[in-house]
Amino acid sequence: MNEQRKPIGFAPPPIDEDSIKAVERVLRSGWITSGPELAAFEHELSAFLGTSQTLCFSSWTTACELALRWFGVGPGDDVLLPAMTYAATANIVIHCGARPVLVDVDPIERVVTLDGLKAAWTPNTKVIMPVDLGGWPVDYDAISSWIHSPSLANDFEANTPIQKQLGRPLFLADAAHSFGATFRGVPIGQQADITGFSFHAVKNLTTAEGGALTFALPPEFNSEDISHWFRTMALHGQSKSALEKTKAGQWNYDVIHAGYKCNMTDIQAALGRAQLKKYSQQLLQRKSLAEAYHTAFSPHSWYIPPPLSDDRRESSYHLFSIRIAGFKSNQRDALMGHLQERGIASNVHFMPLPLLTLHKNRGEDISNYPNSQLAFGEVISLPLHLQMNLDDINYVVESCVQFIDEFPRND
Ligand SMILES: Cc1ncc(COP(=O)(O)O)c(C=O)c1O
Repeated sequence: MNEQRKPIGFAPPPIDEDSIKAVERVLRSGWITSGPELAAFEHELSAFLGTSQTLCFSSWTTACELALRWFGVGPGDDVLLPAMTYAATANIVIHCGARPVLVDVDPIERVVTLDGLKAAWTPNTKVIMPVDLGGWPVDYDAISSWIHSPSLANDFEANTPIQKQLGRPLFLADAAHSFGATFRGVPIGQQADITGFSFHAVKNLTTAEGGALTFALPPEFNSEDISHWFRTMALHGQSKSALEKTKAGQWNYDVIHAGYKCNMTDIQAALGRAQLKKYSQQLLQRKSLAEAYHTAFSPHSWYIPPPLSDDRRESSYHLFSIRIAGFKSNQRDALMGHLQERGIASNVHFMPLPLLTLHKNRGEDISNYPNSQLAFGEVISLPLHLQMNLDDINYVVESCVQFIDEFPRND
């Protein structure tokens, strides 16, 4: 490795002095779990996303599992989700006793398509859960019109009062990567019935661990009831929050449900608030780095770019995952080793679920998901973060080109 050059990490968290001061302020305030910072963060997230309601939790995983449970998903139910996603998307379905039904992705966009969803639909489908992989929005228009179609409503068998009220499958968007992405100029978070974001440490905006839900359910759903249910379920089913219980004469409480413990703390919320103030600017920075990558790679015939923007969509530029035409996974792994030697961290998003033991044991076979299988061999995610400059981008590109041009491929 070039001795002069600082190693390029994959996705270091964007923690600056303002983030540190924000956390310090909460640490010194005398109240560190869910409280006023969380309320302010939720309010500011709603303003940023243009949503009427945003609720925060300890992670995307806990938030979206609650969403499935709110909808009454359980044994005998199917949830459609992509074959190429992180394990969490399927795990929450399994936690609820339901069946993840995997859908192959589009080879270029690497997200599920309407045709793929339609082909995977079963009479037991209760939830459609596509993933905006790398920050690239799925076709929200196409999925929304399908989900609202009379044929889907006719075939929907409601098992719970909430399912009856909706009268069709729930559209739950896995937007773990797409905070700040837009569809038709509108922030992701307003399109699906419920949208789940992740603020995990490697995400564009991080609270170390954390997640949020936004709601765009039909108007007959009462948002206060929903928010009360989710907040209660995130805190042991307890009728009062920890802060409310500290008020004079308010120590006593009831427990209404056997809830979970997955609330977001004020420390996390303060971290999120500090970053949210700068996030619009940071998105522009990420965009210019992604565009610099794209321009530098474009002359190479083996380069298959990640989708970044089109006439309806703009990515959140969470990942810069290129595909190298004709590469197999062992060649990609060798490239990752070469980059590592040059001080460059890289990653793979994702190993398709059918390649994981959990899903193999459920009877899944990767050969049923040819696009995911092909993409997996060819894909590599390159570092994209705010500590990088154009010189770093050129160094990464040059390091890739040097290796790939010399490596025998099958294209
Ligand atoms: C596509 C996708 N969905 C869900 C998750 C889970 O998010 P969290 O770690 O906040 O639970 C991740 C995490 O990386 C993810 O990549």
